[in-house]
Amino acid sequence: MFEQRLRPRRMRISEGVRSMVRETSLSVKDFVYPIFVIPGENISEPIPSMPGCSRLSVDKAVELAKEVYDLGIPSIEVFGLPEYKDEIGSSAWDMKSPVQRAIAAIKKAVPELVIVGDVCLCQYTSHGHCGKLDGHYVDNDATLPLLQKVAVSQAEAGADIIAPSDMMDGRVRAIREALDENKFLNVSIMSYAVKYASGYYGPFRDAADSAPQFGDRRAYQMDPANAHEAMKEVALDVEEGADIIMVKPALAYLDIVRRVRDRIEHPIAVYNVSGEYAMVKAAAANGWIDEKRIVLETLTSMKRAGSDIIITYHAIDAAKWLKG
Ligand code: PBG
Ligand code: ZN
Repeated sequence: MFEQRLRPRRMRISEGVRSMVRETSLSVKDFVYPIFVIPGENISEPIPSMPGCSRLSVDKAVELAKEVYDLGIPSIEVFGLPEYKDEIGSSAWDMKSPVQRAIAAIKKAVPELVIVGDVCLCQYTSHGHCGKLDGHYVDNDATLPLLQKVAVSQAEAGADIIAPSDMMDGRVRAIREALDENKFLNVSIMSYAVKYASGYYGPFRDAADSAPQFGDRRAYQMDPANAHEAMKEVALDVEEGADIIMVKPALAYLDIVRRVRDRIEHPIAVYNVSGEYAMVKAAAANGWIDEKRIVLETLTSMKRAGSDIIITYHAIDAAKWLKG
């Protein structure tokens, strides 16, 4: 008789056994759902490159927030398209802008839903860069006071978590100081600590009308080839007072997520970005892949790599699939 004592397949023999030895779990509680808010009323404008996602006026965003909360998703991240743009992005801290109004209205309607405010200037500047310009150069230190204003305005509106995505040096410290000075001691910071200059942001820039009008973001976002540098960014943001550390994009950077997990004790978030979402949606629409299976497998891989929180446009579908 064939002798084989070591048989890993014994642990795969039935769903019961598989469920007992499963190492990673995916839950609706892992998700943050991103939304885009626009001026106006009663508007829901589908985003062509992100099937299933729409730009919403504040009233519609409130309806969606209720739906998100009822599905058990604990959090949403709010992105905004402003009424006006200028050189310094001043609509980003205007309390009458869609983001501030949406945060306030959602907080009022669904107080338990955790609201994350994205802090950056690219949706608000006429040139589409993430900071204040000095010629064609994004001026790091001149941008920090502007980011402080955006963070404080969102906290004032009712945001629970401030998420700076601009990649300026020292912004976590600057934002922490501004929040503390304004008595927002319990508003946390989820830092986009490791954000790569990525082609995967394409659909988002259509959705948020935030593409740079000249050049690209390589002088402030990270080089996709670098991993040691990611550890440096994480160490700085932890030191500056970040509460949650984010890696973005997710799928092509899961090795980075694992390295960060092995290095720090902070909660780790990944951003499953627009291009990752669009690829799955396009292949699924063509019948080339099984969408449910691919999405759940992909989100599970993000947990396995070491993330605690997943910001994903798939959150609503995935919440329903995990229930069903
Ligand atoms: C703005 C910002 C971007 C994303 C989140 N915040 C785009 C960028 O840096 O150009 C990307 C999100 C996505 O692609 O889903 N700084
Ligand atoms: Zn930006």
